[in-house]
Amino acid sequence: MDQHYEPELLTPADLDDMLIDLPEEGRFEVGRRMFEDPAVFDLEMRHIFESTWIYVCHESQVPDPHDYFAGRIGLNKVLITRNGEGELKGFLNSCTHRGLQLTTAKKGNKKNFMCPFHGWVFNSDGVCAVDSHADGAYSDSFDQQGHNLVSVAKLESYRGFVFASLSADVPTLTEFLGGAAIALDMFADQSEEGLEVLKGEIRYSSRANWKTQLENIDGYHFFPTHMSYIGLIQKRMEEDNPTVQTIDATAMASMPGGAYEFENGHCMNWTFMPNGDERPLGFQREQIEKQFGAEKSRWMIDHVRNAIIYPSVLFMDQSSSTIRLVHPVSATESLIEIYCLAPKGEPAEARERRIRQYEDFLGPAGLATTDDQSLFEACQRGVMSSQIPMMHGYGRGVERIKPGTDSAGKAVGIDAMTHSDINDEAMIHGSYRVWKEMMAKGLAS
Ligand code: FES
Ligand SMILES: [Fe+2]
Repeated sequence: MDQHYEPELLTPADLDDMLIDLPEEGRFEVGRRMFEDPAVFDLEMRHIFESTWIYVCHESQVPDPHDYFAGRIGLNKVLITRNGEGELKGFLNSCTHRGLQLTTAKKGNKKNFMCPFHGWVFNSDGVCAVDSHADGAYSDSFDQQGHNLVSVAKLESYRGFVFASLSADVPTLTEFLGGAAIALDMFADQSEEGLEVLKGEIRYSSRANWKTQLENIDGYHFFPTHMSYIGLIQKRMEEDNPTVQTIDATAMASMPGGAYEFENGHCMNWTFMPNGDERPLGFQREQIEKQFGAEKSRWMIDHVRNAIIYPSVLFMDQSSSTIRLVHPVSATESLIEIYCLAPKGEPAEARERRIRQYEDFLGPAGLATTDDQSLFEACQRGVMSSQIPMMHGYGRGVERIKPGTDSAGKAVGIDAMTHSDINDEAMIHGSYRVWKEMMAKGLAS
């Protein structure tokens, strides 16, 4: 599914110039160019976003026959539907007549999509129902071409999380997720009834490159960036009946924690929280411990966890539980969508806690995500106004990366390539190595 014109060519030497990856010399640096050059961005869309699995939606967002969800894969608008038999289908959200975006609604239920321009009709199987011969206006040749919606090359669901690929040349979704699948398992295991995405998604645009958005999981930034939020948590903890019960992030720096790199650029961090009972899942501690044992339930309830499934999504089980999709728009702009994920059938107090924590940390008037956003945009402005080619922003911890999984992770079967400190930046290195591999493979093709 190659639909691009040839972008300005980059060379393998350009890629080498953009990533200094010399851990034996204590160096890991990235080039500013990869955050602002439209030619780099074009190749990223083609050789990264259109060449791998991209998370699109959760099955709970399309539960019934003929439900649909409009998502994105890089710059491509896509449509996930359930057909009349309840099977998941994926298409480009583009009328095969003149290309019009078939639905601008985010989700809904439709047996048929009628294009508002000339009235062509497509069913939830993507089949075009237009009678092109009705008035004899179209040629035989036109009729023979077929005008169904264009299917995505691959579509798979892992425990309810729906991913699609525009390239058929990808491993299975399970192989792609590799060891990082455990991040999704620790969500999915929270309810035997399954998970549901709650109403009230958050959507905003950001004047910053998609990679800046994606990397929002280093513990290193937490205290300087979120000082005002931490001050508020401290204040709330002194109150008898605070407006929102929050996780005790004030103690984060002194708590056990860590970070793992997995294959294909995925990674995950974790920190122990001393007040896990204040988290929504804390309301079900007894049942979770009975079902999963002490070790795994500690991971599910008392550890906050943030995972990147490269290159497009963050699964964050921390203040509430959220899916954060990062959609690239241009070299200097992104579109972010955040969804709150919850175990179906959880107690009412837990559901209320989950929603309050979601609003409190992540909402448009939230207290923490806004900090991150303003600094991402400031990063972008700094990148674009500087002549210095390389950034030293990823070197922290380069000499203390250890192979495999630490003892805390081994206890619950985490199978990582490396582990490092949560306050280091080493967990991001794999993403950049995959970035370079995919770009180089693309240049060679
Ligand atoms: S563009 Fe869809 S019917 Fe013409
Ligand atoms: Fe942050």
